[in-house]
Amino acid sequence: MTLNQCYNVPAEEFLRAAPSESVHLTVTSPPYDHLRKYNGFSFDVPVIAQELYRVTKPGGVCVWIVADQVIDGSETGTSFRQALTFMDAGWKLYDTMIYKKRNSLPRAGRRYHQVFEFMFVFSKGMPRTTNIAMCPRSTTADKRKNRTKKFSRNANGIHRINKNYVAKEMVKRSNIWEYYTGYGNSTKDKIAFQHPAIFPDQLAADHIESWSNPGDTVLDVFAGSGTTLKMAKLLGRNYIGTEISAEYCTLIEERLLLQQCS
Ligand SMILES: C[S@@+](CC[C@H](N)C(=O)[O-])C[C@H]1O[C@@H](n2cnc3c(N)ncnc32)[C@H](O)[C@@H]1O
Repeated sequence: MTLNQCYNVPAEEFLRAAPSESVHLTVTSPPYDHLRKYNGFSFDVPVIAQELYRVTKPGGVCVWIVADQVIDGSETGTSFRQALTFMDAGWKLYDTMIYKKRNSLPRAGRRYHQVFEFMFVFSKGMPRTTNIAMCPRSTTADKRKNRTKKFSRNANGIHRINKNYVAKEMVKRSNIWEYYTGYGNSTKDKIAFQHPAIFPDQLAADHIESWSNPGDTVLDVFAGSGTTLKMAKLLGRNYIGTEISAEYCTLIEERLLLQQCS
């Protein structure tokens, strides 16, 4: 297994050949039920869950991003089944996080607007790295009193220091992460949109920074357009991936080359 490249083999084959305890973090998103056909490619979740466990270092993490299809009036429950399969393979379910799409399209029919996917964070034992992101506390009271603005404007439009200014307290970010998605939002790399189901660059970056350190090895076994690999590279991690489609592998190579030029 050579680092900093993407292989064109099925995830199961790649993982069986990979050395034990060689990966710090996996950030990946498998095909969701039958929402997209991907040329009929399929995958074996129990084998992938077990093999990912074997190749992950003690304290390593696997982020599995997935959603259900609605079939015959019911959500399939695939996401939950996969989560339980991972737990059967020995993983701890460290956190069930939500990837919320700020601009998803309204859903037809008599259902609430579907705006999220699951991000199951599995760990091999307790996670070795937990760089928990912080964000400024924002409360309704802050907004009402305008107390968090450092400057206020008087009647003549002159900016003055707001004497009521209080620096916002930093608090832990919640486990619901929101992103704008789609063309021009998920990434600035136009070629990435040749793939129909990319997740945002920032989502991959946020997980990589949370659960790994520079120099660590980050894996994606369903590499798609290469989002995880690209962000791992930009964040100074070693990356490795596999993608079953030769067409998407070419896309990944081109996308990774773009990062060298920019
Ligand atoms: C949801 S997409 C991943 C998208 C990726 N996260 C991104 O941001 O570009 C899933 C990918 O898994 C690939 N795939 C399907 N079965 C596979 C298998 N057995 N092994 C490896 N890749 C597979 C599909 O070709 C597809 O590109």
